[in-house]
Amino acid sequence: MCGIVGAVAQRPIADILIEGLRRLEYRGYDSAGLAVIDPVTQQLRCIKTAGKVQALSDAEHAAPAHGVVGIAHTRWATHGKPEVRNAHPQVSGSSIAIVHNGIIENFQEIKQELCAEGYQFASDTDTEVIAHLIHKIWQRERRDFFGCVRQVVARLSGAYGLAVINSEQPDSIIVARSGSPIVIGVGIGENFIASDPSALGQVTDRFIYLEEDDIAEVTRDKITIYNGTAPVNRETVRLHLDNDEVLKGHYRHYMQKEIFEQPDVVKNTLQGRISKTQILEQSFGVAAKAFLDKAKSVQIVACGTSYHAGMVAKSWIETIAGLPCGVDIASEYRYRKVLVPQDCLFITISQSGETADTLAALRYAKTLGYAGFFTVCNVANSSLVRESDVALMTFAGREIGVASTKAFTTQLAVLAVLAVALAKRRGLSAAQEKDYVKDLNQLPQTIVDTLALDADIKQLSNDFGEKHHALFLGRGVQYPVAKEGALKLKEISYIHAEAYPAGELKHGPLALVDADMPVIAVAPNNELLEKLKSNLQEVSARGGQLYVFAHREAGFQNNAGLSVLNMPHCSKFLEPIIYTIPLQLLAYHVAVLRGTDVDRPRNLATSLTVE
Ligand code: AGP
Repeated sequence: MCGIVGAVAQRPIADILIEGLRRLEYRGYDSAGLAVIDPVTQQLRCIKTAGKVQALSDAEHAAPAHGVVGIAHTRWATHGKPEVRNAHPQVSGSSIAIVHNGIIENFQEIKQELCAEGYQFASDTDTEVIAHLIHKIWQRERRDFFGCVRQVVARLSGAYGLAVINSEQPDSIIVARSGSPIVIGVGIGENFIASDPSALGQVTDRFIYLEEDDIAEVTRDKITIYNGTAPVNRETVRLHLDNDEVLKGHYRHYMQKEIFEQPDVVKNTLQGRISKTQILEQSFGVAAKAFLDKAKSVQIVACGTSYHAGMVAKSWIETIAGLPCGVDIASEYRYRKVLVPQDCLFITISQSGETADTLAALRYAKTLGYAGFFTVCNVANSSLVRESDVALMTFAGREIGVASTKAFTTQLAVLAVLAVALAKRRGLSAAQEKDYVKDLNQLPQTIVDTLALDADIKQLSNDFGEKHHALFLGRGVQYPVAKEGALKLKEISYIHAEAYPAGELKHGPLALVDADMPVIAVAPNNELLEKLKSNLQEVSARGGQLYVFAHREAGFQNNAGLSVLNMPHCSKFLEPIIYTIPLQLLAYHVAVLRGTDVDRPRNLATSLTVE
């Protein structure tokens, strides 16, 4: 989603703000802007541009913004088109500027009220109402600007992380959080704010995370935080943000780098969680044991790629651990009536830990009587981590490409360990445990072997350059893999792609199959292979072009209508992880071929902090 940066310093801050926005650009990138207070004239100076942060940087270099206090924003449009007038900061009068992540649900009502009082709106954003409302109260009271913003925030419903400056009170930034994260970066004689600490890695390693409904006044040497009417203290944490991590190295795109990091990050994620023969359950933390002992069923909730990980986990938990497991899309779960069985463990899965729908689902679930709340998450200190009883961290490192890759495989690595841990409570023998753990220990090397198919997959991708549609097929636990493959292809290459359990083809989608519809299938050598082969015959018989990622002993032969790519041998248990990798590579190479912006596909963002 959108990204926020701000600084209250004694030195020029325009470059700090722009560098912070660059680091947040993975969150939103359709327009950008900054506002600073000139220390000499005490005037507000605002620059906004459509498009990526580079455009803002060019504009600022052409006409530098002198200022030591300021805020900046990179936007992912929700209300109003991605145009300059809708970019943030939104300004009211000549002194108030605001940047905002999230959605204000009662903005129409406030807008009507403000219009009736003579305020004119220059944008289509919900954010502009906040700027004018603050302006209105400030004009009336002319004192205690922090108090004015607190009054305004109390009127807002919806989700927000926001930052406000006032050139008539030029030594502070006011920030507030409700449903959308804000951190304060602590400096020496200067302080910073951002929606994500990664924006501030170049200026500090000390951070204060605002909690829900916190509002803070940040000056150069003081940070005052309120929650409701009471001042509160929040812990300062030290984060080592590895700047090298955000560099692409020799890779052409972050997504490519992240695909090739998978052997290492999966290994990191498994380290300490398995020995040569056993699951090391104590690595889940002391709190986890009681919840796992108690669990008689599991409910998983997630979005997008993380939801696909949940679908695979459902299959593992049911087949390996013998526990019933439900899996829901968070945006649906949060609005449906849910019947909770006794002793059901609730698990969210999320790369960012800030996805608004998943967070809302967790909060809803907390009202329903689950036995405990786990999250499988990649970002320490994120909202999901802080609001769950147990966090099972994936150690994927920062994922910058919008198309999720290494987050997915590390989520599956954690969920595989969790499934075995649950199975141990339900009669899994030591020998069976040892087999599963052996498979997990081999996983990083099998990923290396799979990545060796890159050149062949690149070659294959040439067939997709001119296509408009594609079908992905899988059966059983490979169906979510097919879904993940289709999601990857559509989001970065803009080719319309759908996934089906292969047996479902004849119930409708087969009508779409012709020579122009590539059909991609994942075909490990499992108990559903023969069924899958019959389904693929249905495609061949209709002139469809098949691309099959198959176990080398699955018995597929290349021919005019069938391209086979032989996969390295891997355990049945971990096939969903391994068979996802060629689909990531295929999507990547097709997108490169089609010349799309691979790391920042249109209309998308990495962390969706709005509903
Ligand atoms: C897929 O490539 C996307 N990045 C998207 O589907 C993502 O998985 C989804 O928005 C959920 O995000 P989360 O894992 O951060 O909660």
